[in-house]
Amino acid sequence: MSLLRTKSIEQSIADTDEPEYQLKKSLGALDLTVFGVGVVIGAGIFTLTGRAAHSVAGPSIVVSFIIAAICCALAAMCYAEFASTVPVSGSAYTFSYAALGEIFAWIIGWDLILEMFLGASVVAQGWSAYLGAFLGKLGITLPAAISYGGTVDLPAILLVLVLGVLVTVGIKESLRVNLALVGVKLFIVLFVIVAGIGFINPANYTPFVPPAVPTAAASGFSWTQPLLQFLTGAAPSSFGVGGILAGAALVFFAYIGFDVVATTAEETKNPQRDLPIGIIASLAICTVLYCAVALVVTGMVPYDKLDPSAALANAFAYHGQAWMATLISAGAVAGLTTVVLTLMIGATRLIFAMCRDALLPMGLAKVHPTYRTPWLITVIVTVVVALVAGLTPVGVLEEMVNIGTLSAFVLVSIGVVVLRRRRPDLKRAFTVPFSPVVPILSALICGYLMLNLSVETWLRFLVWLVIGFLIYFSYSRWHARLETGVGIRPDMLEAMKVGHAPHLPDDLH
Ligand code: ALA
Repeated sequence: MSLLRTKSIEQSIADTDEPEYQLKKSLGALDLTVFGVGVVIGAGIFTLTGRAAHSVAGPSIVVSFIIAAICCALAAMCYAEFASTVPVSGSAYTFSYAALGEIFAWIIGWDLILEMFLGASVVAQGWSAYLGAFLGKLGITLPAAISYGGTVDLPAILLVLVLGVLVTVGIKESLRVNLALVGVKLFIVLFVIVAGIGFINPANYTPFVPPAVPTAAASGFSWTQPLLQFLTGAAPSSFGVGGILAGAALVFFAYIGFDVVATTAEETKNPQRDLPIGIIASLAICTVLYCAVALVVTGMVPYDKLDPSAALANAFAYHGQAWMATLISAGAVAGLTTVVLTLMIGATRLIFAMCRDALLPMGLAKVHPTYRTPWLITVIVTVVVALVAGLTPVGVLEEMVNIGTLSAFVLVSIGVVVLRRRRPDLKRAFTVPFSPVVPILSALICGYLMLNLSVETWLRFLVWLVIGFLIYFSYSRWHARLETGVGIRPDMLEAMKVGHAPHLPDDLH
């Protein structure tokens, strides 16, 4: 029994697409772009920009955004080829099970669980920060102990619980709601840029790259220093050139979500043309907006005075523009809600797919008799996300999300090269240009950004991987459907049919 056993592509299709559910090829480049912008813009730009500029990179955070964007563009190409080679829709987990082998599928699935669980928690915290800012502008102050940054982040918990109920009763993101929320987010971001320009004080850009500042005492070690600094024996420091790279590894978070665009290959009218346009266009739009926001905000407020939680709104409050700050806070609250929802639905569907293959207990994928949703998985996702969002100290989560996503990207990039060698016969709706140069470059840059994450993040990630391997070798390997040949339960098939589980035509609408 091999660690590299694969689900045959025929089996993957049989598992995921009933014959009557042939994917409709309905999406064009514009749909993909709107969809991409909708899932990408979230807590990253609204909260992380301020914190990263404040304590990691200063005004040069704009360079960090450009570096992270280049990394994402390369990885996105690889993701798109991977997604379009294996003719089933779904996440990198599904593709890699058919293409690379079970152990890789497990690692990618385990990494993506980390990404989506923690991602939802981080954005819920960002939402809570902006809710606090919004209520504050209305003169309502929540007790510090139960608001953002307090002992318990109650608003974040309540948000996750409400969204959990919506996911359980089977809410689906509609293209129209998505369009409306994308509109709100774009409006708010553009508002920050246009209204903020007038408040820029050029003196705030000096120094553009603040000189490196030591971050550790005489011991010469800090848990928060980038792993690369530790490995090279450099003294722990923030800012400087190292700060730009550490900032890139941090604000990478702001781009997370574009990979979802790459999973729509089967629903795209002309994937070879539309997929790269959709991915590159949404990445380009977000990059331009992010860089503009970063420039404006660091120009409005000296970087060391930026508010690390609700920087965009409070940059306007800093200039006495209370109504502008209120407007931005309200828009952020609306815009961030959908990102949390998307990530929670993503986590539910991913776990369902892993239960369907019996790498996780099939019993978890209990389907609700009325709503036809995998309610038990949803309850688990909701409770875990609520607890993490409500009780975890702020500021340690984004890096964990990033390391999970970046490691999945590294594997996907390598997977493209491996699969081209192993299965040159497979039809590819989209091919990465200049392969294997681009995939290798993508893996290297993602890996390099990972090295710029902190030592403590790496330790936590290693613990996460060890837990993953323990589960795999003690349970998943022996219970996998590939091992036992057990069939999928009828209620699970039903959930897939009605669209509350992976791989149906209107998944992404
Ligand atoms: N890119 C998403 C955000 O910034 C995860 O919230």
